[in-house]
Amino acid sequence: MSTSNWEDAKARSNYHFNKWHKDTDCVQHLGKFTGGWQTELQSVIEDAKPLNWGNRREGTGRENVNVDVEAEENDLKTAGADPKMTIYRGLKDFTKCPTLQKITDFFELSSTKSKLHVQFTGEVLNMHVDKLYDLDANPNNVIRIMIMLQDWEPGQFIMYGNQQFDRWRAGDIHKFDWPNIPHATANASNKPRPMLVITGVMTEKTREILAKPINKKV
Ligand SMILES: [Fe+2]
Repeated sequence: MSTSNWEDAKARSNYHFNKWHKDTDCVQHLGKFTGGWQTELQSVIEDAKPLNWGNRREGTGRENVNVDVEAEENDLKTAGADPKMTIYRGLKDFTKCPTLQKITDFFELSSTKSKLHVQFTGEVLNMHVDKLYDLDANPNNVIRIMIMLQDWEPGQFIMYGNQQFDRWRAGDIHKFDWPNIPHATANASNKPRPMLVITGVMTEKTREILAKPINKKV
C-alpha cells in the first residue's frame, strides 16, 4: 500500500512533470459526431449518480483492479479536501439516451466500457494518471476516447498535463496518452458538463476508423 496516488502516478508515467514547460500537444483531436441528441441527453443528466474516488467503479466490473482507494483519498486529505467529495456523476444505462450507445458502438472496440460523465457545478476531479492496465496485457492496445456532448461554457475546465483544453463543441472527439498524461477536470460554470468516456481494447476496425478524422452523423 502506498500513501499517495499522485506519487505512484509520477513513478509510472513518462510525463516530464515540469509545470514551467508549457504543454501544447497533450490533446489528440479525432474529429466529431453530429446529431440531435440534446433532448435525450437532457433527460438523463439528472439520473447520473454522484461518485467519489472510493465508489467510482461500482457496477463497472473493475471495482478491485489497480485500485488503491486509500492512496487516492490520501491525496485529497493531504490537500485539506474532503476525501469523499463528489468528483463527477456517472451513468451507464443508455436506454433513455440511445445515441450514447450508438457513439460507443461506432468505435468497434472489444471489452468496451462506456460511461456518461457529468460534472455539476462545484465538482472537481483532482490531478491523477489513469490505471487501465487490467483491460489488456499490452497497454498500447487500450484506448480511452472522450466525446464532449454539449458546447463548452466558460468555467468548465479540463487540464491535460499543464494544457487547458477548452472551447470544445458538442460532438468533438479527443483522446490522450492515458498511461502518462496527468489530468484533472472541474466545473465552475452554471451548467452541467456532460461527456461520454469510452474505454476498450482496439480492434483492427477501430484502428481503421481512427486512421482518419471522424465526421459522423449519429
Ligand atoms: Fe482519468
